[in-house]
Amino acid sequence: MIASKKPADTFNIMSELVLPNDTNTLGNLMGGRLMHLMDIAGAISAMKHCNCPVVTASVDNVSFSNPIKLGNLLTIESRVTRAFNTSMEIYLKVWGEDLHAQFKYVTNEAYLTFVALDPNGKPRKVPEITPACEEDQKMFDGALRRRQLRLILGGKMKPDEAGELKALFL
Ligand SMILES: CC(C)(COP(=O)(O)OP(=O)(O)OC[C@H]1O[C@@H](n2cnc3c(N)ncnc32)[C@H](O)[C@@H]1OP(=O)(O)O)[C@@H](O)C(=O)NCCC(=O)NCCS
Repeated sequence: MIASKKPADTFNIMSELVLPNDTNTLGNLMGGRLMHLMDIAGAISAMKHCNCPVVTASVDNVSFSNPIKLGNLLTIESRVTRAFNTSMEIYLKVWGEDLHAQFKYVTNEAYLTFVALDPNGKPRKVPEITPACEEDQKMFDGALRRRQLRLILGGKMKPDEAGELKALFL
């Protein structure tokens, strides 16, 4: 197993045309359909990192700021921001694009966590992430705080164990 990779090694970009079957009665992409595609995009980045099967462990708060219209192009960019022991945080950015009018609009961003599995379905160790630029480093540093928050919300960590978060609030 490679000991370390860069976020760029895990970068993935995925596009789909929004078709009638993907939309609600207002002619906008359904949120559930978008989350399905985000899950797949995130899994691709995670698998580019660990080169083995992964499962979605959690999805952080997702809010949709703009609807994606029927006939527009939906694009999801994703990459691993930080790897821990067996888990990886993935950052996703989603935008819509009106190819006729030639404009793009960001609809949402999200962080998903995936866990790598061994052939017995047990969590297995993943390579580390080495930030390669200032933006990578910012994401990498923030990942520790986001991890603590999601583990507390998921009932997997006690608030008093979250050193990074305590440093922010106390
Ligand atoms: C995710 C899963 C593999 C974790 O297994 P587990 O027995 O709790 O294993 P552990 O407690 O050893 O945790 C393994 C890793 O998962 C992470 N994890 C567990 N719950 C998490 C959560 N709610 N959010 C983020 N990460 C989580 C842990 O932090 C740990 O990461 P680390 O090794 O990098 O520190 C297990 O809960 C699972 O299989 N869940 C179902 C996944 C699935 O089916 N997803 C599709 C949705 S239907």
